[in-house]
This record gives sequence, C-alpha cells and structure tokens, in this order.
Amino acid sequence: MPPLTYANYLDLEKLLTLQKPRSTPPEHDEMLFIVIHQTYELWFKQLLHEFEKINHNFSAGDLFGAIHSFKRTRMIMKTLVGQIDILETMTPSSFSSFRDRLDTASGFQSVQFRELEFLLGYKRASALAHVKPDFPGAERLHARIKQRTVIDHFYDFLETRGADIPAEVRNRDVTRPNEANEQVQREILRLYRSAPDVSILFELMTDFDEGLQEWRYRHIKLVERTIGAKKGTGGSPGVPFLKESLFKPVFADLWAVRHEM
Ligand code: HEM
Repeated sequence: MPPLTYANYLDLEKLLTLQKPRSTPPEHDEMLFIVIHQTYELWFKQLLHEFEKINHNFSAGDLFGAIHSFKRTRMIMKTLVGQIDILETMTPSSFSSFRDRLDTASGFQSVQFRELEFLLGYKRASALAHVKPDFPGAERLHARIKQRTVIDHFYDFLETRGADIPAEVRNRDVTRPNEANEQVQREILRLYRSAPDVSILFELMTDFDEGLQEWRYRHIKLVERTIGAKKGTGGSPGVPFLKESLFKPVFADLWAVRHEM
C-alpha cells in the first residue's frame, strides 16, 4: 500500500471535480456561487455534527463538553456570516447572467439548513413541502422533525443542575417548535445568579443564537442588493418571506430573562 497522502485522505480528486458551472459561454462568477454554497453545506454538516455531540453532553450533564462545543459552533457561525462579504462582491448584473441556469434550485431546498433549524427547535412543518421525497437526505429531515431538539436536551441539562422543568414542557409534542416558558426562565435566572460556570454556557448559547439571527439579516441584505424585489428561484416571494424568521431567537428563554439581571 502506498503511504497515505494529503490528496487521498481528503479525497481531493473527487472534491475538486464537484464544481460544475452550467453557463455557456462561461460566466466568471458562477464558480464563486457554487464554491460558496458548497462551503456553506460543509459547515452545515459540521454544525449538525457538533449539535449531536452537544445533545449528548446536555443529557449527560457535561457542562464543559457543552461549553467547548458551543464555542466552536459560535466561531463557525461567525465564519458563515463573514462569508457573505465575499458573495457581495458579485454584482446584480453578474448574478443575472447565470441566474436562469439555477432553474428552481434555491437555498430553500437545503436539507441540512432545515435539519439545523429542526435540531435547534425551530420546526416549521411547512418547510417540509419544499423538500421532495426524492431529494438526498429527505428521509433524514422527516426523521429529524420527530426527534427531541437541542432545547429538549438543554432541559435535561438544567435538571442535572437542580432545575424544576414543568411537566408540560418535558412531555411536549416534539414535532412542534419549542416555546418559551416562564418557569424555565425562572430556573435560568436562578442559575445565572448561583452558578457562574453555567452562566458561561448560557452566554455562549446566546452568542450562537445572535450569530444565526445575524446570518439571516445578512442573507436578506445580500438577497435585496442582488435581486431586489424579484421572486426567489425557489418560488417564494423572496425578501418578504425571508423577513418572517428575522429576529426570531431559537433559545427564546435565554433572551427573555435579560431585563431581570
Ligand atoms: C446571490 C445570492 C443569493 C440569493 C439571491 C439568494 C436568494 C434567496 C431567496 C430569494 C430565498 C427565498 C426562497 C426562494 O424563493 O428561493 C433564499 C432562501 C435561502 N437561501 Fe439564499 N440566496 C443567495 C445566497 C445564499 C447562500 C450563499 C446561502 C448559503 C447556504 C443561502 C441559503 C439560503 C437558505 C438556507 C434559504 C432558506 C431560508 C429560510 O427558509 O429561512 N442563500 N435565498
């Protein structure tokens, strides 16, 4: 067996043939458009991987494991936000030159992004309609909507720190979005005051959440400056649709207590 090389380990030959611009004659910026979306999908994959671990950490009451991984997810989120600057170097006319090649393809159909939302408790059943049964990963997404979320595992963690989580929250229908709860907020506030190590986790979770909202905002501005009032290739009204989830936190209980401190 020849020694393992950088290219073999990373399967680079395959990876670097996966960028397939469709424009003839070629449009320079289409390569950027493909590379950036593929990069996002790789980071989504890593985020899903990290949150699976965080779920285990939470249920095992492993505070430092969760802190470590939330630090990482926060940094990935910052990278995802920062990458938008690169795509914003593409002008509206440059995008128009190849937009037709996208046909009905849209970030709307990103199974991993939706998985991430579901995992984080933002379960919009309507989102499933845009993922056809034959899309790669569709069955994973359908399974994901029936699974407990990071927030449900967070309740497990809070219980390991003596929190009294109400039965209706513990036994909630997990196919529905997680909702803010005042009793949970009281417990979070108590821990903020009594457990400085746990409050570090709360702040990191808030950082991540703020980063996700920042991404949504930057994506909307990117869309606005690139296609203005045009409809999306995925068939939504575009910007007005995207604004529906703007400023919606995933960890709502952590935001609800801040004026009490
Ligand atoms: C020129 C650049 C971009 C334009 C014009 C654009 C446009 C849009 C539009 C109009 C939508 C609404 C759905 C539709 O009707 O298509 C959308 C959704 C979405 N886009 Fe983009 N997008 C761009 C770049 C990106 C990038 C780089 C990503 C990274 C993965 C991305 C990910 C998404 C996701 C995940 C959604 C679904 C959001 C949700 O349902 O809340 N987009 N995009």
